[in-house]
Amino acid sequence: FEVSWDAAAAEKGGWSSFMAKEVAEQPEAVANTIRGRVRDGAVVIPELDGLDELFIGINRVIITACGTASYAALVGKYAIEQWARVATDVELAHEFRYRDPVIGDDTLVISISQSGETMDTLMAVKYARERGARTLSICNTQGATIPRESDAVVYTHAGPEVAVASTKAFSAQITALLLLGLHMGRVRSTLTDTTAVEELSTLPEKIAQVLAEENEHVSQLAGWMADTRSVLFLGRHVGYPIALEGALKLKEISYIHAEGFAAGELKHGPIALIEPGQPVFVIVPSPRHSALIHSKVVSNIQEIRARGARVIVVAEEGDAAVLPFADEVIRIPLAGAMFEPVLAVVPLQIFAMALATAKGLDVDQPRNLAKSVTVE
Ligand code: G6P
Repeated sequence: FEVSWDAAAAEKGGWSSFMAKEVAEQPEAVANTIRGRVRDGAVVIPELDGLDELFIGINRVIITACGTASYAALVGKYAIEQWARVATDVELAHEFRYRDPVIGDDTLVISISQSGETMDTLMAVKYARERGARTLSICNTQGATIPRESDAVVYTHAGPEVAVASTKAFSAQITALLLLGLHMGRVRSTLTDTTAVEELSTLPEKIAQVLAEENEHVSQLAGWMADTRSVLFLGRHVGYPIALEGALKLKEISYIHAEGFAAGELKHGPIALIEPGQPVFVIVPSPRHSALIHSKVVSNIQEIRARGARVIVVAEEGDAAVLPFADEVIRIPLAGAMFEPVLAVVPLQIFAMALATAKGLDVDQPRNLAKSVTVE
């Protein structure tokens, strides 16, 4: 009789990889990001108590980050502009710190970092402070360097993320940005819409629904596509950053050429890449939020389908307009426009993971990559 003890397997809690575990933990991670931050129908972030001056009297927000966090930042741009009515730009940390940006005490620089130790992001924060900007960080690691260098911090509370490819930290970062946008909207008296606040609490169960209903379907799809050499991703509005993130996940762990595009750019170049059999994921925004944006994405789908693309759509339940042109339909539950990204990214994470697994790769430790890049 022999007892075998595998510490790594025990840590994974029965999952085949840390990434699989972390993808599955997203409902809980997002619930933890929201917990304690909704009070009497409004978003109130206790860590920001007494810090209203960070958000009043600013006329510009710059969100800075690297990698996956920079795609969360792009979703944040849409949310902050919509709810807090302040011009918001996203800039990669390593670009921001090596030019001469126009910033000052009327600028809020928000940094996003899972580890809180990424050198480029840290240096961007220090640079912003030296220039007199106000600084706030969104971070997953308690007491890390970036939050210590910032005027304020909103922790994501997603729990430790071990797999190199970020998953639950990403959905928690978007959630934190939504909370921050709603908090800023209240403080700046620009927010009239209360439905967004009400919707926050439903997000974890909707993520759980995507996991339960699409895991098998998407994994199967990835299995069929194990020999694919290139995958394209299209999205519009907040679906655009999700297209970028879907492509990044695939590059990182399955070593497949992948690119994400804004769907509106299709006619300006990417459509030349479409040849028969080319797989293209399309993140379709809900027609309930904007019939116009939805119809534009549906015509993009028609255009690529006419050229032989293999179209895989991620669309909300009940969206029948996509059916005639889609080879595969992945469904997400109905959600507010700003909340869709957290749901739409889940099947793309599962796809990348299943494809890497089908190719026999180590999804947790991809070649050439580090979890946290603390050098330049
Ligand atoms: C590395 C990781 C990525 C991550 C990026 C930013 O490149 O491999 O997954 O998105 O760093 O990391 P941070 O800790 O700053 O979010």
